Amino acid sequence: MRRRNFIQSLAGLGLLAHCQMFSSCREDTGHQLDILILGGTYFVGPAIIKAALKNNHQVTLFNRGVTNPGLFPDLPHIEGDRSLGPDAYRNLQNKNWDVIIDVWPEESMLVKEATEALHDHTKHYVFISSIAVYNNFQEVGLHENSPVVDLNLSREEWSYPEEKLQAEEYVRTQFPDNHSILRPGPITGWRDPAVDLLYWCLKLNGDDAILAPGSGMDPIQFIDVNDVGKIAVLAAENHLPGIFNCTGPKTDPLLWKDFLAIAKQHFNSPAELHWASEDFLRANEVFSFTDLPLWAPLSEDRGFMQISNKKLIESGFEFTPVQQTLADCLSWYEQNKEKELNFGTKETGVGLERSRELRLIEDLLQSQSDSG
Ligand SMILES: NC(=O)c1ccc[n+]([C@@H]2O[C@H](COP(=O)([O-])OP(=O)(O)OC[C@H]3O[C@@H](n4cnc5c(N)ncnc54)[C@H](OP(=O)(O)O)[C@@H]3O)[C@@H](O)[C@H]2O)c1
Repeated sequence: MRRRNFIQSLAGLGLLAHCQMFSSCREDTGHQLDILILGGTYFVGPAIIKAALKNNHQVTLFNRGVTNPGLFPDLPHIEGDRSLGPDAYRNLQNKNWDVIIDVWPEESMLVKEATEALHDHTKHYVFISSIAVYNNFQEVGLHENSPVVDLNLSREEWSYPEEKLQAEEYVRTQFPDNHSILRPGPITGWRDPAVDLLYWCLKLNGDDAILAPGSGMDPIQFIDVNDVGKIAVLAAENHLPGIFNCTGPKTDPLLWKDFLAIAKQHFNSPAELHWASEDFLRANEVFSFTDLPLWAPLSEDRGFMQISNKKLIESGFEFTPVQQTLADCLSWYEQNKEKELNFGTKETGVGLERSRELRLIEDLLQSQSDSG
C-alpha cells in the first residue's frame, strides 16, 4: 500500500520559543553534546545536523561518503559502509559519544549491528522510525502505545513497517533506559525527494483550474523536515525517553479545504479549486494518494491523517507554520531542478497529467450543471 510505503521514501528565536518545556527539563543547559550521526546527508539527516549545529553541538558524520559528499565540508566525517556488517563500526569504537542519532536504516539488521557495536560508546540513542509501524489506520488518534504490525509473520513477508518495528526493538534491547524513538508521518519541506506536497505548490503557482480532492473535509497531516530535525536534537539534549509520534503541521486537525486555502493565499494564487466528490473521482478512476498526492480520505483510512501528536505537544513542541513548509518545498525544487516535472507519468509516480485533469474538470462541471 503506497500510503504506508510513502513514509519510507522517501528552518531562531523560534526554536527557543518553541521548546521551553524541553529546555527546562534539560539537566545541563550549557552542555554541548558530542553527537554522532549515522547517515546525515540526504533529506532528514541534514535537518537534524542543522538543528544540532544551531544549538552549538559537535557533530560527526558516519556514512560511505557517496550521498552528497560535499554537503558538510567542515564536519568530521568517519567513513563506513553499514552493509558490510558489524565490522563497519570498528572505526567508531575508539571514542565515546553523548548521543548517537541513527537516521535512515530500513533494514533492522543494520540497527541490530549498530546498537550492539556502539552499546558501550554512547549515553543515548535516537532512532528515526515511522508511523508505518502502526497496525490499523482505521483507528483515529493512533498514539505511541497503539497496536503495531505483527512481527510473527514469516520474515519473507516483512516489508518497511516490520523492519522499522524490529529496528525499534533492537534499540530498546541495547538502550532500555536511554533511547528516543521518533515516529514521523509524511515528512516534507526543504530537500524533500518526494514530490507530493510539491504537486500542490506547483499547481497553485501555475494552473488556473485545479481538481481538488473530495469535499475538503478530510484531514491532512505532514511534518516539516526541520521539525523532525529539532525534535531529534531536543530528544538528544533532554534524553527524552520512549517513543514520540512526529506528525503535524498543527495541533488541531488541518482539513483539506483549509490547507488549500492557506496555500492559495500564501502563493497569492488566482487558481479556482474544483472540489470533486469521492463518487466522481471513483467513477473516473482517480486514486487517492497517487493521483491526488497526500489525500487519504476518511472513507479509506480513517486514521492515517489523524495520528495523535499529543505527547509531542505536551512536551512543549510547536510546529513550523504551514506557509514556511510550503515555501521551503517550492524553493528547494526551484533552486535544484534539472528539468520540469511531468506529473501523472512514471517519472514522478504521482499527480494528474494536466490534460487528464482538465478533462476531469470539464466532466465535473458538466455533471454539476446536469444535476442542477
Ligand atoms: N520521507 C518520509 O516521509 C518519512 C516518513 C517517516 C519516516 N521516514 C524516515 O526518515 C528517514 C529518512 O532518512 P534519510 O534518507 O533522509 O536520511 P539521511 O541520513 O539524510 O540520508 C541517508 C544517509 O545514509 C547514508 N548511507 C546510505 N547507505 C549507507 C551504508 N550502507 N552505510 C553507511 N551509510 C549509508 C547516506 O550516505 P552515503 O550514501 O554516503 O553512505 C546518507 O548520509 C528514514 O529513516 C525514513 O524511514 C521518512
